[in-house]
Amino acid sequence: MQRQLTAAGLLVVGRAAQDRIQRLSDISPLIEAAQRSNVVMLSERTVDEILTLVPTDDAIDAPATPRSEQATLPDPESHSAIGRTLAPVGTQVLAPPVRRYGLDHYSLDDFPMQAKDVDAEIEIHFDITGRSTTQGKMQDIRSCFSDRLSQIRQMMIAGRALPRRPISISEAWRNRQRHSSRDYEVTFVGLVSVDKWSKGGYLWFDIEDDSMQVRCMLKEPTGASSFHASLDGLMNDDVVGVDGHFNLNRDPYFVVSDIHMAPLGRHSKSAASESEAVSAAFLSDVHVGSKTFLAPQWEKMIEWFRTDPLARTVKYFVLSGDGVDGVGIYPGQERHLAIKDLFNQYGELARLLEGLPDWVDVMILPGNHDAVRPAEPQPALDPEVQQDYSDTVFVGNPCDFSLHGVRVLSYHGKSIDDFVAGLRSVTYSSPELAMRAMMERRHLAPSWGGKTPLSPEPEDRMVISTVPDIFVTGHVHGHYVGNHKGTTMVHSSTWQDQTDYQRMLGFQPKPCILTVVNLHTHATASIPFA
Ligand SMILES: [Fe+2]
Ligand SMILES: [Fe+2]
Repeated sequence: MQRQLTAAGLLVVGRAAQDRIQRLSDISPLIEAAQRSNVVMLSERTVDEILTLVPTDDAIDAPATPRSEQATLPDPESHSAIGRTLAPVGTQVLAPPVRRYGLDHYSLDDFPMQAKDVDAEIEIHFDITGRSTTQGKMQDIRSCFSDRLSQIRQMMIAGRALPRRPISISEAWRNRQRHSSRDYEVTFVGLVSVDKWSKGGYLWFDIEDDSMQVRCMLKEPTGASSFHASLDGLMNDDVVGVDGHFNLNRDPYFVVSDIHMAPLGRHSKSAASESEAVSAAFLSDVHVGSKTFLAPQWEKMIEWFRTDPLARTVKYFVLSGDGVDGVGIYPGQERHLAIKDLFNQYGELARLLEGLPDWVDVMILPGNHDAVRPAEPQPALDPEVQQDYSDTVFVGNPCDFSLHGVRVLSYHGKSIDDFVAGLRSVTYSSPELAMRAMMERRHLAPSWGGKTPLSPEPEDRMVISTVPDIFVTGHVHGHYVGNHKGTTMVHSSTWQDQTDYQRMLGFQPKPCILTVVNLHTHATASIPFA
């Protein structure tokens, strides 16, 4: 046994752990489960925990964790009680979800209204469907960026984010002799193109407006938070305001003393009236058609909708993109598909949603796996696809809408890929920090030419012009519910299990969690079905 454990890179710690292990007739399931859970040290406690995951005949009193050959311990860094499952659970009979009422975060008293007693009230403020006017020409691109610059500059001026009236870069440059010392600073606003951090830890970037471009150097101010641009970085094509002076050496540049993003004050949320205290449920990335779609867990959710009192309050079911896995989205996708025909995938999604009770209205946005143009803003799914669905509103991505007066901004979240690449603070396991970054710069997808294809509409509709009450994204298959400056932030969960690609990257998704938000009280509940 010792040899087997050592060969597997596992270290047994303590006598009690040894005893536990010696009682096992076969230790290979233990070894496999430990390796799946990235456990190296086997203490008495870890052995017990791991044994709750493996199908074993040895009599150890295990809690009611589902045993399967695929289960792992929860990711220690995720702070979540939900572990991961590497593949569909198969024939396992699923227990109904635990009704954890009476907890601070999950009180049924917060959800007194029956959804069937309230008429739907959806008001769409922005949806690109049928309104895309770009021809993708240079002129359109110029107009899109100049609109972005003027929208965000206007927000900065109106929100008093700048210490003085900004002037154009060319005007500042004309008066560079005057503005060449710290005592005569000047302020301008422009679009960023990021260069790099120099050895001394300074961030170098170019800033450009309609008049000209200038090179800037940003030094970390004392006491800067890790979100400050000097430490976190900037995204290409961000709009920023800079104060500072020119250094007029042989290679002149602008020394930035302070940098300003679009203003984002504390937001006070609107609420649905007491007589409309229904809730909205959020989900994305169902990926129907993929072999890793978690069908048994979907059935469990449908059962919950039929039986749970909380489900009777759910009036809206918002699906923020990647409803199906699509076809030809990435090379070699075919071998991961259980349904290889795109229309059949949408047909199956329609069938799955048909299981929801009839008091639920569905809203569907597209994502990067869907059968619409990938360039954002993306229009709604094709009418030919839509005809299979009942009680469903199809909108574009992103979509800015209100449910009973509560303003929701739903965006699939493709640009999170760019934020992960561009900002030091953002990782795939913290998509909420990408959402925070979007809010703080009042833009959903700033970078042109990155991983997010953008459609250069003459007005930049990816600007967050109105701060939402609820901001929702998906795409990276995590899960988060929280708050940023008064806006409820939901990173909606997926219904797809870990894919080969995610496994290769060591990424653990958080599937099968339905996020429910009460539109009157803004209380939230996250219900796990995994
Ligand atoms: Fe997805
Ligand atoms: Fe996606």
